[in-house]
Amino acid sequence: MKKILVLYYSRTGNTGKMADAVAGGARAVHGVDVEVKYYATPEELADFDAVVVGVPTYHHDMTIDLKRLFEEAAVKDIKLKEKIGAAFGSYGWSGEAPRLVLEIMTNKFEMVVTEPPLLIKYTPDRAALEKCRQFGRKISERLMRPT
Ligand SMILES: Cc1cc2nc3c(=O)[nH]c(=O)nc-3n(C[C@H](O)[C@H](O)[C@H](O)COP(=O)(O)O)c2cc1C
Repeated sequence: MKKILVLYYSRTGNTGKMADAVAGGARAVHGVDVEVKYYATPEELADFDAVVVGVPTYHHDMTIDLKRLFEEAAVKDIKLKEKIGAAFGSYGWSGEAPRLVLEIMTNKFEMVVTEPPLLIKYTPDRAALEKCRQFGRKISERLMRPT
């Protein structure tokens, strides 16, 4: 069984709705175990084959908890190399946060990023939730593909 972590933060619930849909899409693929969490320790990250981060953009940035998590993971030298990484999030006008997360995943942790960041403006509607499900499904399919 391959394991995917969907780790998200959401202050007003929009990225939370996206996270549920991403996880639903990821679970549609046989052989994948998906865990949705609001909080994770650096050590926990290493238990998963793919780490999918949901983060809204506030003040042109990712949230402070997520920064702290990445900083602690770096200090503790947590090995995430070659794990799959992905990021999504709700935004209002600029939407930098998921891209910033992917930069750290790629440049610091040498993770494999296969999907562009998925951005949804404010509250996801039905079409947006379907995009989220497809996003989750693609990540699962990539994980199950023999390399
Ligand atoms: C104080 C504040 C600052 C924000 N700053 C940004 C920003 O810099 N760029 C942006 O795209 N959206 C910004 N937003 C909009 C949020 O990203 C948007 O409301 C999003 O849907 C929040 O997601 P959440 O419900 O998952 O917390 C801001 C919202 C607030 C309340």
